[in-house]
Amino acid sequence: MWVRNAWYVAAWRNELAAGQIMARTIMHEPLVLYRKVNGAVVTLEDRCCHRLAPLSKGRLEQDDLRCMYHGLKFAADGRCIEIPGQPVIPPNAMVRTYPVAESGAWIWVWMGDAAAADPALIPYTTSEDDPDWHIRTGCLDYAANYQLINDNLLDLSHLSYAHEKTLGRGAPAWANQRPRVTRLDRGLRFQRWFTNHRASHYMRAHGEVLELWHSYDFLVPGLFLQRPAWYPLGSAVRANHTEPTEPPIFVRLDDQAVTPVTERTSRYYYAVGLRSRDGSAAMAEEMFRFTETAFHEDKGIIEAQQQVIDLAPERRMMSTSLDAGPTQFRRLVDELIARETARPRHLEGAKQPA
Ligand code: FES
Ligand SMILES: [Fe+2]
Repeated sequence: MWVRNAWYVAAWRNELAAGQIMARTIMHEPLVLYRKVNGAVVTLEDRCCHRLAPLSKGRLEQDDLRCMYHGLKFAADGRCIEIPGQPVIPPNAMVRTYPVAESGAWIWVWMGDAAAADPALIPYTTSEDDPDWHIRTGCLDYAANYQLINDNLLDLSHLSYAHEKTLGRGAPAWANQRPRVTRLDRGLRFQRWFTNHRASHYMRAHGEVLELWHSYDFLVPGLFLQRPAWYPLGSAVRANHTEPTEPPIFVRLDDQAVTPVTERTSRYYYAVGLRSRDGSAAMAEEMFRFTETAFHEDKGIIEAQQQVIDLAPERRMMSTSLDAGPTQFRRLVDELIARETARPRHLEGAKQPA
């Protein structure tokens, strides 16, 4: 089950060049994306209404897309505007269109009710041309349900174990100490101080041990947005162990998006970076490579977890205090799905059609 009324990341903006036709699948729905002559992105159902061939194997003709099986031509609004050898085009000759937006470094597609598509629900994310940041981007395809990847990002205790030689660097505090979790409108916020954080070599000039203000938001459908910030010793006490107001020494950036492809496959998009005032593009590249090693560690354990789950899908998970994030987020997703599938008020009590 998926929240449909949400913006899903479909691609990096720079992946879709002018004249290119891109196929994507989100939540089992085949999509085709291309740019109009004016650069605006079009997203159509990637399934010709004639014999159901993929339009992504078709041909762009200005702002229109021609199916290259038998030649039906579709306008950017999904209407079929030409059937070879047939002067009359029936009104049902059309494919679905999806609201689409470009924001930050991503192309976002609204998978639900088009009338409910609200661009204000797209959170701020950084783009590669932002002069304040050096960022590097990548993505991984998973053979796992997207919710397992969300769970992983909603509970960073796994850094101490799954990433003990990389991101966790043997720091048990990730698992032993709990973040404060705050409910947001469409997500959760996680915040905590680490007051004895071994500095990585990027920030060693400021001391071997620093304090880390770790704060991130996790938003529907699967957006992980964090700006961890390092501070000199004593900063947590000065901030009364709440959100700091002093300028940090070093800030890193992680914008990530988990997109469900099918029930058992997902795509994980990630941007890793640092403030340009804190270091060079070469440092960002090094940080990216190091982080990507850790992402492969996640992929290894999550895909293995999915295989074990599939052997006995009826087995239930056991919650511990580590799972406040995953549990609350799954509840939020269930609430949003229930709201989407609720029958309109005026139909309550009405007889269901047979
Ligand atoms: S399947 Fe597209 S024109 Fe026939
Ligand atoms: Fe991880």
